Amino acid sequence: MAKGFYISKPLGILGILLGVAAVCTIVALSVVYAQEKNKNAENSNPGNPTSGPISPTSATTPATTLDPSKPWNVYRLPKTLVPDSYNVTLRPYLTPNDKGLYIFNGSSTVRFTCKEATNVIIIHSKKLNYTAPLTLKGVGSAQTPEVDTTELIVPTEYLVVHLKGYLAVDSQYEMSTEFVGELADDLAGFYRSEYMEGGVKKVVATTQMQAADARKSFPCFDEPAMKATFNITIIHPKNLTALSNMLPRSPSYPLNGEPDWNVTEFDTTPKMSTYLLAYIVSEFTAVEKNTSSGIKIGIWARPKATTDGHSDYALNVTGPILEFFAQHYNTSYPLPKSDQIGLPDFNAGAMENWGLVTYRENSLLFDPLSSSSSNKERVVTVIAHELAHQWFGNLVTVAWWNDLWLNEGFASYVEYLGADYAEPSWNLKDLIVLNDVYRVMAVDALASSHPLSSPVDEINTPAQISELFDSISYSKGASVLRMLSNFLSEEIFKKGLASYLHTFAYKNTNYLDLWEHLQKAVDEQPALQNLPASVRTIMDRWTLQMGFPVITVDTSTGTIIQEHFLLDPESNVTRPSEFNYLWIVPISSIKGGTDQSMYWLNGTKQAQSELFKSTNNDWILLNINVTGYFQVNYDMDNWKRIQTQLQTDPLVIPVINRAQVIKDAFNLASAQKAPVTLALDNTLFLIQEKEYMPWQAALSSLSYFKLMFDRSEVYGPMKNYLKKQVTPLFNHFKNVTNNWTQRPESLMDQYNEINAISTACSYGVQECEVLVSDLFADWMKNPNNNPIHPNLRSTVYCNAIALGGEAQWDFAWSQFQKATIVNEADKLRSALACSNQVWILNRYLNYTLNPDLIRKQDATSTISSIASNVIGQTLVWDFVRSNWKKLFQDYGGGSFSFSNLIEAVTRRFSTEYELKQLEEFKKDNMDVGFGSGTRALEQALEKTKANIKWVKQNKDLVLKWFTDNGK
Ligand SMILES: *[C@@H]1O[C@H](CO)[C@@H](O)[C@H](O)[C@H]1NC(C)=O
Ligand SMILES: *[C@@H]1O[C@H](CO)[C@@H](O)[C@H](O)[C@H]1NC(C)=O
Ligand SMILES: *[C@@H]1O[C@H](CO)[C@@H](O)[C@H](O)[C@H]1NC(C)=O
Ligand SMILES: *[C@@H]1O[C@H](CO)[C@@H](O)[C@H](O)[C@H]1NC(C)=O
Ligand SMILES: [Zn+2]
Repeated sequence: MAKGFYISKPLGILGILLGVAAVCTIVALSVVYAQEKNKNAENSNPGNPTSGPISPTSATTPATTLDPSKPWNVYRLPKTLVPDSYNVTLRPYLTPNDKGLYIFNGSSTVRFTCKEATNVIIIHSKKLNYTAPLTLKGVGSAQTPEVDTTELIVPTEYLVVHLKGYLAVDSQYEMSTEFVGELADDLAGFYRSEYMEGGVKKVVATTQMQAADARKSFPCFDEPAMKATFNITIIHPKNLTALSNMLPRSPSYPLNGEPDWNVTEFDTTPKMSTYLLAYIVSEFTAVEKNTSSGIKIGIWARPKATTDGHSDYALNVTGPILEFFAQHYNTSYPLPKSDQIGLPDFNAGAMENWGLVTYRENSLLFDPLSSSSSNKERVVTVIAHELAHQWFGNLVTVAWWNDLWLNEGFASYVEYLGADYAEPSWNLKDLIVLNDVYRVMAVDALASSHPLSSPVDEINTPAQISELFDSISYSKGASVLRMLSNFLSEEIFKKGLASYLHTFAYKNTNYLDLWEHLQKAVDEQPALQNLPASVRTIMDRWTLQMGFPVITVDTSTGTIIQEHFLLDPESNVTRPSEFNYLWIVPISSIKGGTDQSMYWLNGTKQAQSELFKSTNNDWILLNINVTGYFQVNYDMDNWKRIQTQLQTDPLVIPVINRAQVIKDAFNLASAQKAPVTLALDNTLFLIQEKEYMPWQAALSSLSYFKLMFDRSEVYGPMKNYLKKQVTPLFNHFKNVTNNWTQRPESLMDQYNEINAISTACSYGVQECEVLVSDLFADWMKNPNNNPIHPNLRSTVYCNAIALGGEAQWDFAWSQFQKATIVNEADKLRSALACSNQVWILNRYLNYTLNPDLIRKQDATSTISSIASNVIGQTLVWDFVRSNWKKLFQDYGGGSFSFSNLIEAVTRRFSTEYELKQLEEFKKDNMDVGFGSGTRALEQALEKTKANIKWVKQNKDLVLKWFTDNGK
């Protein structure tokens, strides 16, 4: 899956954290206000209301009281039966039945092989009502035991068929069922998505199976290793199109005796996992193209979006991206077609269903008239992420969810490579350093972090699975795979990768299989014999223990020391590590801007090398381009030499390392490994810096200062300093953009132009305030002709709303309600949270609970935006505390959203009083639970404690530093 939750690109971090301007939209965490729907599903029986042939045993049995000696009480399937092939026919009704429910009818036959003799068939089934007795028959000469009884086990989501005799080992059987399910709008399984077009409500039937909801659509062995082939048939209204993973087997034909319905049969899929299935019934239309290798590409969208050309960008980049990956993997695209569809109502950012990828509209569609460069960047990177999975993940699949990190980390790394191929002038590859590496370090530096790799037996329930979809899996996975690719060399990495994909096509693996194939590639290339250990030995340190090291260099002696980097040095690491929190670290370095070298710190705490010894008073810099997943600290003399270099001729230091110097110093200061004044000193060179990466590094680091101090007397002097630093940048962009009338050429400059405006405005550069207010006023005068360039809209809207009052807010709200383009709506939606008026924010907060005003999928990200505003934060905290139970029930346990919500609302916490409130919140709601927010809550408690300590220690120093340097 792509970035559903925190998943989206974090360019917006600045905006959110500065409480002012979102550079691009963030986040997608979405929340499902599923209460009504859940009620419907549980209280009503869509099919046969009184007695289906199979009824649940006891819907209320709590999982904990289940007797685990019975295999149907265990969350993992037994190894007795293995599916070979399914026939699945589904008929969704896109209008409600006489009880007001949307339903689908289904019938399914599964052919499976018996691997161990058994007298019970255990197959996943969730919220399905069976409408006819099931049938079982042996294939060929296999004897068929009679069915004794059937039951549905609700907690473990099984249909259980007890037999009067045993199934024979190596024999095949076919089991057929007929059932009814609800086509709920719960964004899970086979569900319905609604949207308005031209004042008319439209309904789409679509799917989201990952991780464990295929079972909600038809009974199936719903684990990723249970690969099988699928013959999907969809019965649908004759004027709507049905899509699935494969192309139709033959033209769609009328349903016997029902002239309003058509039948579309799809080709048999290759062997695949259930979580990658997809089928969609809609009136959507496509733009299509064949690639040079004959793959049929289609981009599907609402008919209006198609005719308006919003799919064209996706169509143009998909071909090159598919070509890139086919070459990168040395494996041709595994299917005859590649469809991608933008859905108005979709939970995750995107989902890599094989051959039919689903997206949120804003991750696939691009409108050049209203969308910004970062919207475009998001489209190309999300497409690259999902298409990368078509091989890595879909063709070769990890056997169980505990290895999710390999799947998601890999796609999150190579998405940059694929996107870079499609947009070679954008320097997209650099962005991984800020968007993934440093971003996840902030989480991974907590004692409550967790290793990338989870033991297989610790991940069993759907809730445990959904908790794995976190930034560790995505961004740390991406960071360590990038490091691995860098120290092996891309050539060897690609060779091992291709060998892995060829060996395991249509099969399942675990992460050790990848290490083994990379090792083979290394062994074939004697030039690389300088690895200090095997790929597996090196990588175990990074995947089996949490966290990462900080390398401290003493350039007077050439000594380096590694330590587990902890944001709070006094936090208690209770999780044991077999490697004692020591890593095998690939360390690249440069000395005085000339020599580049490579050194391996081989799992020891300390080492010494001439490479790290300053000879002619040269500065030394480690971790070039931050390809290593670690932080670096130096002796004070070397820091001073680096600062001098930065202030005299910064261009000698690579741009990523100019960002690194800032990021590492701030992280070290947070962890009390360096004085906070050193970190602040490292920002002094920004007065002459024009590049995006260093500025973005500084702004994202200083956002922590803003969070800690924007309610205190430090804020005034801090504002003065930043105003002073940013003024030259603001003037620079004013010049290069010809007084803001045109955009800079490169993508990074375009991003930094936005930084210049949002920083200048939020720290009180008056010319900036006039600029944004005037632009917004021009728009208000002429609402149908927005004069603000799409790139600048987020920051202009936000600052104009913050500087303005009710009139500005109401205008933006009316534009939001009118907006037909998701990207535009998203910009307005997050800017509406920028108001400075408590009553306006409070009213907005209440709107988020009304799905007619704020779409369900946007609720949590909207609440989070309000919480990011210093004025809105208390409102949201009160709201969350008093409504937790209701929120929790409404949003459903399995959704990905609670962690973001908790993170956003506790971000400023830095007093004993707030800590106490948080602890009480935890205590008061223990019985309700925190679902996917459990980990986030622990992290919030730890972060709050660290913040309290940090503020106590640093407030006076910071106040003095800003006072001295802001003059
Ligand atoms: C699905 O179709 C293929 C090709 O016609 C066939 O070989 C396979 O047996 C079918 N599956 C089932 C369950 O009938
Ligand atoms: C599955 O569907 C195909 C095509 O409709 C049909 O030929 C085949 O007999 C079906 N298989 C079973 C097991 O019903
Ligand atoms: C499809 O047909 C239904 C019923 O005949 C009608 O209500 C609907 O508007 C039609 N949709 C399209 C896209 O033509
Ligand atoms: C429905 O079937 C008719 C008759 O075969 C066909 O002409 C039409 O294209 C089909 N509709 C769709 C949406 O495939
Ligand atoms: Zn993914």
